[in-house]
Amino acid sequence: MSGTVLLRGTGITRRWGGLVAVDEVGIDLVQGEVHAVIGTNGAGKSTLINLLSGEIPLSAGRVELLGQDATAWSQPRRAQAGLGRSYQRNTIYPGFTVFENCRLAAQARHQKAWRWWQDAGRCADSTVAATLAMEKAGLSDLGSRAAGALSHGQKRQLEVAMCLATAPRVLLLDEPLAGMGAEETDRMLALLEALKSDHAILLVEHDMDAVFRAADRITVMVNGSVIASGAPDQVRNDPGVRAAYLGDASLETAA
Ligand SMILES: Nc1ncnc2c1ncn2[C@@H]1O[C@H](COP(=O)(O)OP(=O)(O)OP(=O)(O)O)[C@@H](O)[C@H]1O
Ligand SMILES: [Mg+2]
Repeated sequence: MSGTVLLRGTGITRRWGGLVAVDEVGIDLVQGEVHAVIGTNGAGKSTLINLLSGEIPLSAGRVELLGQDATAWSQPRRAQAGLGRSYQRNTIYPGFTVFENCRLAAQARHQKAWRWWQDAGRCADSTVAATLAMEKAGLSDLGSRAAGALSHGQKRQLEVAMCLATAPRVLLLDEPLAGMGAEETDRMLALLEALKSDHAILLVEHDMDAVFRAADRITVMVNGSVIASGAPDQVRNDPGVRAAYLGDASLETAA
């Protein structure tokens, strides 16, 4: 249902030795919304995603997924419960087709990836999930194309399709627009817009124009801490955010 909090992070903290990479961050991801997390390089955005997805353990804090305390859950358990993510770097298998990549992602949800060569042809569920994911991501026509032969933008779309193949309710997307041209960006933003009614989406992105076009809510991180969070207009006019981005005209041009 639109407006439902599907993922809630409270007091999320991660220390690397003396460095506090993520410092008591609170974040709600709500169905029907794209929630952008912005911040300069090293602000802690990817670490936050890794903490929410269960890839790395929290130093402190709590993660609630669909109303359940998921703090102690492993990454596969969180994935099974409906948490999907994409990575800052490409994670596709270039020698496999688009369809096969999606099917492998679907199978990974059921932790059968290691037996894919036995099960792939027989696993009807994964085939359906892969087909549906390609359809949603606008890749149906490219199913039999080798993933390595796709354009950069199509590869990023495939990353999202692979995430969708795991049938998530929450999508954590780490810079899905990186390196994209204008047309590819438009396509990806249209995809996020189409997906948000059924999903809660966290979007980490550096392109401020895209952020202000796509986001319903924006959280700004500096040195691991949240300095502002709210509606795009509220964040744009926040003095602390303007100070943190001083000398960066992107907030002006995104107006
Ligand atoms: N495995 C690790 N060990 C030690 N320090 C780490 C590790 N991973 C990240 N860090 C540090 O944590 C901080 C946050 O890094 P993170 O990758 O989350 O930033 P980011 O906001 O995603 O940056 P970017 O925009 O460049 O992707 C950085 O100072 C980084 O050097
Ligand atoms: Mg990052």
